[in-house]
Amino acid sequence: MVKDIVVYPDKRLKTVSTEVTEFNETLHTLLDDMYETMVQKKGVGLAAIQVGVPKRVLIVNLPESDAEDVEIIKEDTLEIINPIFTNMEGSCKNQEGCLSVPGFYEDVERFSHIVMEYQDRHGEKKVIENQDFLAIALQHEMDHLNGKVFIEKLSILKRKKFEKEWKKRQKS
Ligand code: CO
Repeated sequence: MVKDIVVYPDKRLKTVSTEVTEFNETLHTLLDDMYETMVQKKGVGLAAIQVGVPKRVLIVNLPESDAEDVEIIKEDTLEIINPIFTNMEGSCKNQEGCLSVPGFYEDVERFSHIVMEYQDRHGEKKVIENQDFLAIALQHEMDHLNGKVFIEKLSILKRKKFEKEWKKRQKS
């Protein structure tokens, strides 16, 4: 089922999500709902708190190309539960956006290389290593699990500009 997205500055986005301990039907339904929501809203990643569920769950599905009509395949979706970064190094800067801050895009600095340990929907332990766009997407979604939104990483000046524009937009 497609869920409503929690939009900034909703306070729920500040929640530090808690660990998943049961890998049951409830979790699987959450993951399936998150996938449907992400696809419908044309996002490439989503954290559970963005649909109002404060659990350490995130999904990412990066398209293989920039083409408009690129087919999104559910099997390509990374389902990540209880993630931990075990290594982060290097740095890079890329434009990011977020379904919780619709229509706003800005450059953000991130680590360029990550190693992450996590569990899949059945509780199996997995490791992922990446130094590409996926590394950035995982850092962005991990921030959500810790109650952070990417605009908090902007410089003070850019942040002020954002808040001004955002207020203006919410009024109209
Ligand atoms: Co986001």
